[in-house]
Amino acid sequence: MSITVTARGVVKAFDGKPVLRGADLDVPEGRSTVLVGPSSGGKSVLLKCLLGLLPMDGGSVRYGDTALATLDKSGLERLMRDVGVLFQQNALFDSLTVWENVAFTLIHGQGMARRTARQRALDTIASVGLRPEVADLSPAELSGGMQKRVALGRAIAAEPRFLVLDDPTAGLDPILTGTIVSLIRDAIERSGATALTVTSDMAIARRSFDRLAMLHEGTIMWQGTPDEIDASGNAYLDQLINQRAEGPIQMRKSA
Ligand SMILES: Nc1ncnc2c1ncn2[C@@H]1O[C@H](COP(=O)(O)OP(=O)(O)OP(=O)(O)O)[C@@H](O)[C@H]1O
Ligand SMILES: [Mg+2]
Repeated sequence: MSITVTARGVVKAFDGKPVLRGADLDVPEGRSTVLVGPSSGGKSVLLKCLLGLLPMDGGSVRYGDTALATLDKSGLERLMRDVGVLFQQNALFDSLTVWENVAFTLIHGQGMARRTARQRALDTIASVGLRPEVADLSPAELSGGMQKRVALGRAIAAEPRFLVLDDPTAGLDPILTGTIVSLIRDAIERSGATALTVTSDMAIARRSFDRLAMLHEGTIMWQGTPDEIDASGNAYLDQLINQRAEGPIQMRKSA
């Protein structure tokens, strides 16, 4: 089972400063889409709007035929049981052990018994390449790369229909990056889930996903398949993907 997610005209500002200015994004069913764009451009904000975690100032988000805005709190909670998220800062629960983090949706979303959930969590922990001993540690005792694997484990453990990953390989060495990318691909292929991944790694953006969308100046400036990138004639996309210092994208100064 899978799901199509569409955003239309998403508008979001903070303290009068516009971040999203009418973003239209298509995340087609059963495909893996990557979202790229300059730093601070609003990628994480767009993901949070798609997940109903940030209120939008305008626009709409649909999961299949269901508009997010029509759901009440319990409807949104029900929908989110089918969604697995890896946040940019991992956002692991430090008060819970590693296995309890991984089993969180199984226990609290699906009401699975702890014993069964623990076994599922142990299987997931092994599938993301961690030793079983880490299961009973606190996330704070792990290295950054291990925490990323735990966060990925938490995102995929309940076999979500929609997998959302915010920069899952940031700060990892090339070997671990390759491992995480193949784990993500396996999870998508195994479950047929729809996936949306933000990455700042342009090599990954080019070769590891079915579709690419570029967010720039608050709108989705380009979407297409990786083999359409070179012929796109889009100078912004060309600059970003080829990581050129010179080009039409102006580096924004921090406030
Ligand atoms: N909760 C918030 N309150 C105020 N401003 C925010 C909030 N969340 C994000 N912003 C601002 O929105 C802008 C976009 O942030 P966002 O985190 O979406 O960027 P990003 O594209 O994910 O960047 P990066 O690639 O560095 O992760 C930034 O200027 C940020 O400071
Ligand atoms: Mg971000």
